[in-house]
Amino acid sequence: MACGLQIKDEDSGYNKNLFCIPKHYEEDIERVFIPHGLILDRTERLARDIMQDMGSHHIVALCVLKGGYKFFADLLDHIKALNQNGDKSVPITVDFVRIKSYCNDSPTQKISIVGEELSALNGKNVLVVEDIIETGRTMKALLSKLKDKEPKMIRVVSLLIKMTNQSPGYRPDYIGFEIPDKFVVGYALDYNEYFRDLNHICILKEKAKEKYKI
Ligand code: IMP
Repeated sequence: MACGLQIKDEDSGYNKNLFCIPKHYEEDIERVFIPHGLILDRTERLARDIMQDMGSHHIVALCVLKGGYKFFADLLDHIKALNQNGDKSVPITVDFVRIKSYCNDSPTQKISIVGEELSALNGKNVLVVEDIIETGRTMKALLSKLKDKEPKMIRVVSLLIKMTNQSPGYRPDYIGFEIPDKFVVGYALDYNEYFRDLNHICILKEKAKEKYKI
């Protein structure tokens, strides 16, 4: 079974004043939870694991927007480097799907999936690239749509999975980090569209949640 780098409940992250945070978010951030450098180092290893398993056949990398775009770009850069420098290489094509399942820091009832023509998946090895899995509800909804397109194989990589009580036990094939049940932002993860433009994965102050609430 896949496992990620585990961050325990008692690991509260790092003092934000020791990192570069954009001025416009300085007041909003409580702690830096996963620094950008660590995200990239872990992503490099995920790329290697993925290529070892899937690297013998054309891969369609499917980015789950919006939250997955940073991880997707960095993961593909590492995969391209392996393709460039290894003994063998495979073509990678990309596709995008947009899903919205959160409002403020809570899940919404309705999961909307947009941009799902995805006609090129038939018979292909598909790698779904997601930012975070909490209950697994969003991923299960997406996977059931993707299976209709009859791909040869589907693998899921998620940068983060949250260890929550409500988790039905869905685990992706590749996991970056396993984190406690905290709401996190940054590295393209948002709170009502804010904080995607933050390099590190961070924990918000409660008053920031009020400030950006809709
Ligand atoms: P699930 O359906 O419960 O697995 O939730 C997954 C989706 O919820 C992700 O694709 C994110 O959009 C969103 N999400 C869950 N937790 C967080 C978080 O801590 N920060 C930002 N978005 C989150």
